Amino acid sequence: MTTRFDELCAELRRNPRTWLVTGCAGFIGSNLVEALLSLDQTVRGLDNFATGHQHNLDEVRDNVTEAQWENFHFTEGDIRDPQTCAAVAEGAHHVLHQAALGSVPRSLNDPVTTNDVNISGFLNMLVAARDADVRSFVYAASSSTYGDHPGLPKVEDTIGKPLSPYAVTKYVNELYADVFARAYGTRSVGLRYFNVFGRRQDPNGAYAAVIPKWISGMIRGEEVRINGDGSTSRDFCYIDNVIQANLLAALADGEGLNQVYNVAFNARTDLKQLHAHLVRILKQNGVDCDRPPVYGDFRAGDVLHSQADIGKARRLLGYAPQFDIVSGLEAAMPWYLRFLS
Ligand SMILES: NC(=O)c1ccc[n+]([C@@H]2O[C@H](COP(=O)([O-])OP(=O)(O)OC[C@H]3O[C@@H](n4cnc5c(N)ncnc54)[C@H](O)[C@@H]3O)[C@@H](O)[C@H]2O)c1
Repeated sequence: MTTRFDELCAELRRNPRTWLVTGCAGFIGSNLVEALLSLDQTVRGLDNFATGHQHNLDEVRDNVTEAQWENFHFTEGDIRDPQTCAAVAEGAHHVLHQAALGSVPRSLNDPVTTNDVNISGFLNMLVAARDADVRSFVYAASSSTYGDHPGLPKVEDTIGKPLSPYAVTKYVNELYADVFARAYGTRSVGLRYFNVFGRRQDPNGAYAAVIPKWISGMIRGEEVRINGDGSTSRDFCYIDNVIQANLLAALADGEGLNQVYNVAFNARTDLKQLHAHLVRILKQNGVDCDRPPVYGDFRAGDVLHSQADIGKARRLLGYAPQFDIVSGLEAAMPWYLRFLS
């Protein structure tokens, strides 16, 4: 059966566009660049390597053809600089704005820098997109915006109070995008990502996400630490679902525009289950890691449970995620084994 996403990919191949991906050296950004180049699009990338890596871009180059790689134009620069934002946005048809400082704990340790990048930098990009009259401005919002609201599954219209400076910044992004739509007619779409995982997600550093951090530790035979009692649950979303959502959002029109959408799979996996999946899938790939996990304190600023209702994205964008947690982990495992060993 042909999906809306299949149709969209065919349309993009027939009529290639010029895209700007900010945060292009990061996990999600580099995957978006690769997907777009593979569809023979022209792609500009902006990154200051705050948390991104040249090796992510090198991997993209290895995964596309030489001709496709020539369609990639990289600018090393900072979204906190309005001139840089204006220069890269000029002439772009679509912007996929991913650049930000992620991580709840990082924002608790350094709220000022998180605010500068995630709010002032975001505003610079939004102004640049408005002035360049781009067809669409798609930005990385976050499930952290649901904050302390206990309802499950999370529905876009019902949010609580933010639990971290990071969550504040991501919510402010949504408010600015909404105001720009009303005041200037900017066409934007916010994607509230729920715990994305997959190839090129950074396993290192104090702010690493749980899946690459655990896998890299497990491959090395190290102890896995679970924050809390293991009942904390998340709606883990494989990167290919996120790529699909971004492209669908970029080409949305009518009612689909100027909206915020949950981007997830609509399932809940707790940390104990996640650990068990990893042990099993690693074992299938010849890595034995039966060391039991150790349990620590719950992490400040974290919500206990998270699961998305994805009905709105299905209805208005035609979003149809293809990978659940297990098929996503299985798809990404060759990459983990190659790069995290
Ligand atoms: N990974 C997730 O689970 C998740 C969940 C919710 C939201 N998000 C959001 O998705 C986006 C991408 O996240 P990611 O997981 O790929 O993180 P990442 O850290 O791998 O990528 C972010 C990229 O932005 C770049 N960047 C940071 N500050 C910059 C600046 N001032 N100027 C230019 N570039 C800058 C970094 O160098 C990096 O390459 C972020 O906006 C993040 O907040 C991610």
